[in-house]
Amino acid sequence: MYYSQEVVDEVLRGNDIVDVISSHVHLQKRGANYQGLCPFHNEKTPSFNVSPSRQIFKCFGCGVGGNAITFLMKYDNIGFQEALQQLADRAGVKLPVQDYSEKAKKRQEEREQLLQVNKEAATYYYRLLRSARGRKGMEYLTGRALSAQTMQKFGLGYADGRGSDLTRMLKEKGYSDEVILKAGLAAFDEKRGIHDKFWNRVMFPIQDMGGRVIGFGGRVMGDAKPKYLNSPETPVFDKSRNLYGLNMAKRTKKPYFILCEGYMDVIAMHQAGFTEAIASLGTAFTQQQALLIRRFVKNVLLAYDSDGAGVQAALRNIKIIRGTGLNGRVIDLRPYKDPDEFMKALGSEDFQKRIDHAENGFFYEIRQLEGNYQMEDPAQRTEFSHEIAKRLCDFTDEIERNNYLREMARKYFIEEEALKKAVATYGRAGAGTPEGMPETPARPSGRSGDKKDRKTAAGASDLRSQRLLLTWLIDDPGLFGQIREYFSPLDFEEGLYRQAAEALWERLEKGEDKDPAMMAASLIGSFESPEDQEGAAALFSERVPDDPNPGKTLMEVMTSVKRGTVARLVRGEGSGDAALTIFREKKKQEKLPGVNIHLSSPG
Ligand code: CTP
Ligand code: MN
Repeated sequence: MYYSQEVVDEVLRGNDIVDVISSHVHLQKRGANYQGLCPFHNEKTPSFNVSPSRQIFKCFGCGVGGNAITFLMKYDNIGFQEALQQLADRAGVKLPVQDYSEKAKKRQEEREQLLQVNKEAATYYYRLLRSARGRKGMEYLTGRALSAQTMQKFGLGYADGRGSDLTRMLKEKGYSDEVILKAGLAAFDEKRGIHDKFWNRVMFPIQDMGGRVIGFGGRVMGDAKPKYLNSPETPVFDKSRNLYGLNMAKRTKKPYFILCEGYMDVIAMHQAGFTEAIASLGTAFTQQQALLIRRFVKNVLLAYDSDGAGVQAALRNIKIIRGTGLNGRVIDLRPYKDPDEFMKALGSEDFQKRIDHAENGFFYEIRQLEGNYQMEDPAQRTEFSHEIAKRLCDFTDEIERNNYLREMARKYFIEEEALKKAVATYGRAGAGTPEGMPETPARPSGRSGDKKDRKTAAGASDLRSQRLLLTWLIDDPGLFGQIREYFSPLDFEEGLYRQAAEALWERLEKGEDKDPAMMAASLIGSFESPEDQEGAAALFSERVPDDPNPGKTLMEVMTSVKRGTVARLVRGEGSGDAALTIFREKKKQEKLPGVNIHLSSPG
């Protein structure tokens, strides 16, 4: 974090989160809050909530949440710095020049240097490929049926095996060892000193959306290992937020992108006229990449290898794709291994046919699942049908779910009514909550929160009580003075809950900002990682139950939290003088019902 909490708070104070989000999402007032369709996952009924009183947002469907800064970071796929700057501009807040000139400016300079040194390197490799020294590389690429025009379009190059010419050249041009190393173009060891990282490889420059070279992939020209050597992540090379080929694919007029596994696939596809092809960068496909795609198209066709690993990757990515509201389909390349091979063997007309017949992502998943069961065995067949029912629950839109349900029933000869009943049962049991069914309590964020819940022994309802108490304190800071005698951060589950409680206690004890509208947003801002921010948002977004007697509900909540503390102590979690602590906490628990709570707002 390059800015003090005060600066961040000032920016947050200057921007009403409802205004900020309204410019991107259509929001409607519902009671004290605003609701809309979540921009981060696919839904047809709104579960995306914005709270003006807490200045935070939270989606009860997919779990994302945070403050105005978090929102912009996610929505625009930008970093903290940039989001803060945008909001500061919007509010007319001047970010302190001091901060900016020191760290951020240095960072900016570093980024520019890295981009520049990458560009130099790309030019060097490019020329080398086309020189006498590049003959081996040129023969290799030509052998893979790439035309000179294609090689030029992708800026392909060559690093030969001779010395450390690139490093030497870059140093002559005035680049420091530090920059060259940081860009991942050179490595260092005692024996050789600083030396070229890539040698004897054909080079694939990796460009960002704007066409700037941010890193490289280098392929050996034979069967040596590793087949590809990639630049490490650097301040300009974030492998989870960029896609190979996107700088060109973004101009496609087609309503879809074709997502491939490898660089060579993308290149072969573009050469064959499919300029909508992209690939991830030697690493697993991420949600950020899906969100990036979603800025251009609504459909993704997967053209993954037809081997086991390819199928596994496709299954995994179909989920990510669907999770962000994109529509995913899968291209069948069999009997060929990948798009590159397919193109060489059958050509673009046949590939187009495969595109036209790409299989719906859900159908693909179920078809792959089917392979694990022996369908002629009624027991296994039953299991398979139940598995289908479970997966149908993931569709939160009722019409969509029913469409899939009917199709599954037809395709796999399951009685439709029975399947429907099974879906209703699983829907109630948890996971997805199909509409029209009772709502399960909101979970504390997606991934990270889930893991923490599982690790600890606290039950879901205990954690919910803890969240409610935290949310309540945010909404009604006047409560703090009345309960501080009985509660401390130690009453909250270790990890994020405890951390959030500690931060909240610290502020409430200072008693400075009693402005609840700022407190939640600002507390979230004090967490570093987006995952923790999301988790923290969940802690302050519990729905205070509609109750004619909120005081009674609060008392129940407090009792439940304290009961959890005592239980934890009895189980021996935590340290210290256990017996005495248990005794003290029990006393507090017993005293609770006698406490006279005054609430300033009706929940
Ligand atoms: N990859 C990598 N490192 C490796 C192997 C693969 O980074 N050692 C990445 C590369 O981005 C590669 C992608 O995974 O493009 C797909 O791997 P693979 O299918 O093995 O490579 P292809 O693209 O098929 O390469 P080629 O056609 O050149 O054999
Ligand atoms: Mn290949």
